[in-house]
Amino acid sequence: MQTKYNDNILYFDDYNLLDVALINKTPFYLYSQNKIVENFKDYETAFSENNHLICYSVKANSNLKILSILAKLGSGFDIVSGGELHRVLEVGGDPSKIVFSGVGKTEDEIRLAISNDILCFNVESLEELKTINSLAIEMKKTANISIRVNPSIDIKTHPYIATGMKDNKFGVDEKEIVSFYEEAGLCEGLKITGIDFHIGSQITEISPYKEALEKVCKIIKKLSDKNIKIGHIDIGGGLGILYNDEKLPSKVDFVDSITNIIKPFGLKILIEPGRSIVGNAGLLISKVLYTKTTPTKNFAIVDAGMNDLIRPPLYNAYHNIKEVFKSGLKPLVYDVVGPVCESSDFLGKERLLCLSSGDFIAVENVGAYGYVLASNYNTRLKPAEFIIIDKKILLIREAETINQVLENEKTCL
Ligand SMILES: Cc1ncc(COP(=O)(O)O)c(C=O)c1O
Repeated sequence: MQTKYNDNILYFDDYNLLDVALINKTPFYLYSQNKIVENFKDYETAFSENNHLICYSVKANSNLKILSILAKLGSGFDIVSGGELHRVLEVGGDPSKIVFSGVGKTEDEIRLAISNDILCFNVESLEELKTINSLAIEMKKTANISIRVNPSIDIKTHPYIATGMKDNKFGVDEKEIVSFYEEAGLCEGLKITGIDFHIGSQITEISPYKEALEKVCKIIKKLSDKNIKIGHIDIGGGLGILYNDEKLPSKVDFVDSITNIIKPFGLKILIEPGRSIVGNAGLLISKVLYTKTTPTKNFAIVDAGMNDLIRPPLYNAYHNIKEVFKSGLKPLVYDVVGPVCESSDFLGKERLLCLSSGDFIAVENVGAYGYVLASNYNTRLKPAEFIIIDKKILLIREAETINQVLENEKTCL
């Protein structure tokens, strides 16, 4: 994370956070274009001459400005809904660089993707395969497909974000995969272009990728024996970021290990990173409303709640919290909590901070799975989003208004 103190004021990407907090309504998200670009370019450099395509995973942060920054860098996109496809098209993203993942694509979504000639559907079931085939035939088109393997890999991450384990709903069992491809080969509306897997998120080791790749490479050999040719391998996303004290491989080491295994097959490598592109490029700025001491705890009650950032209660995720201005107050150990009427509404527990009401805090590393998971719970309005570009602050989403929230219900009264 790019925050640092200068004269007790916290700076992010060289921008004075006290200035931005004092003049804008809190809470709000604040991103750094520099950091997003740097993260993307780190992948590009790591892949260097290897035939590859980075398909940024839109679900991590789907703000149009962020998508447009990535589209301009030449990024492809990994989408999981028609809505995300609309977003990518809106910013001029290239459809021929879009992969469509997810277990529950609807007919409307499939039609939209076929009509835009996307790069590939990552297919997750036989019924889905048949639906894509019949819709492609009906539309007199050919749909490119790859099949998502579930490699049954046990990974050390939160169980809610592990997706390549035996009991997960994702992908196709390794034992069935060859017959799936044979079935696909018989479908006149489909063209087999690749193979795909995604084993989970916030993965901090390379070994599960290697394990999955070994299995997938065996499948590729079996396919080749049956004369089923593929052109690419999509290794999904999932590389973790530093939230607390994790030990992480560098992007270079990660990419090198992957490319070394895949090289002999001469396939193009697709990768779908989300968190590792935007995660450490975002902050949530919030104001302390009240402090309160009970017989067992000190609470700092801030104006951002679980509706703004649900990762702490949902995944027990750790996010560093810093004072935007370090006053001379005596530090106390606080639970930093929001105004939502749930005991699970916390941003961080047992944090040593110098705080009093009216002070601002910065919650770090919230660029991924932050705003996109925000809700209107307790009829709270979703916050604004800003980005720092060339040392200037740009509003990239206005804060929601109460009229916007009530609109669809008022018309039904
Ligand atoms: C299919 C798929 N690809 C890519 C991603 C992005 O993962 P991450 O943000 O961990 O890189 C996800 C997220 O879970 C996913 O489900």
